[in-house]
Amino acid sequence: MHTTTRSGIRIRTATPDDGDTVVELASLVDLHLPTEAVPTALAPMRFALTATDDGPLSHQDNHFLIAEDNDGFPVGSIVCGPPNWIARPGRASGLVRRRLLRRISTVHILAVRPEHRRRGVARDLLQQAEETFRGAGYAALTLRHDRELTAFYRQLGYTSVNRLSLMLPPQELFTLNDRPWKHAFKVLSADASVITVQGLPTITGVLPT
Ligand SMILES: CC(C)(COP(=O)(O)OP(=O)(O)OC[C@H]1O[C@@H](n2cnc3c(N)ncnc32)[C@H](O)[C@@H]1OP(=O)(O)O)[C@@H](O)C(=O)NCCC(=O)NCCS
Repeated sequence: MHTTTRSGIRIRTATPDDGDTVVELASLVDLHLPTEAVPTALAPMRFALTATDDGPLSHQDNHFLIAEDNDGFPVGSIVCGPPNWIARPGRASGLVRRRLLRRISTVHILAVRPEHRRRGVARDLLQQAEETFRGAGYAALTLRHDRELTAFYRQLGYTSVNRLSLMLPPQELFTLNDRPWKHAFKVLSADASVITVQGLPTITGVLPT
């Protein structure tokens, strides 16, 4: 899949050969990890890139896009996949977890090379990913970000919060605080919405009651 954006940047889905590119671009994000821990933290992305699938996302539960300039040089990337908390013990039962995987996804990486910033590349990558997840019936996209990027994500239609909050059936309030990160989310489908619960903007309708 290829799309040329208004900025003349071409966006395509990544292939298994893009492992080094994706890892290099992902390394532009401050993961709040010691330098030596970064390759291990990014290794699952390489592995996820080897998955083949003809589903709506590029790689099974993960979606990888690369932005290239006119010469085919990769200038930015977005990596989306299941939120890490879904797999944490005690967070969700197996059945709920499987259903959540089809309804909620996280932007793990959004990165643009410094010399290509402020030209709308990140906006285009994010909007294109949102369109794919919307078309695939996802309820919401979430992500973690540094405090300095609150205005950036707000501008792109995200609600930025200190604590991520979701109402899961039957009536369970799931909240997540991950300091020093902030969380942000965008609702993508008409059957999901945001309500205030215990003072927190809370995503509801992710799973049917
Ligand atoms: C954050 C990042 C992805 C933005 O990429 P970009 O291509 O420069 O962003 P865009 O040009 O699409 O910006 C979209 C809008 O946000 C604004 N914006 C961009 N970076 C911003 C920032 N750091 N703070 C506030 N607003 C910002 C832009 O001005 C633009 O608004 P406009 O359309 O009114 O001009 C890029 O700076 C980056 O790769 N940073 C390092 C990695 C990182 O921190 N990623 C986020 C991880 S959660």
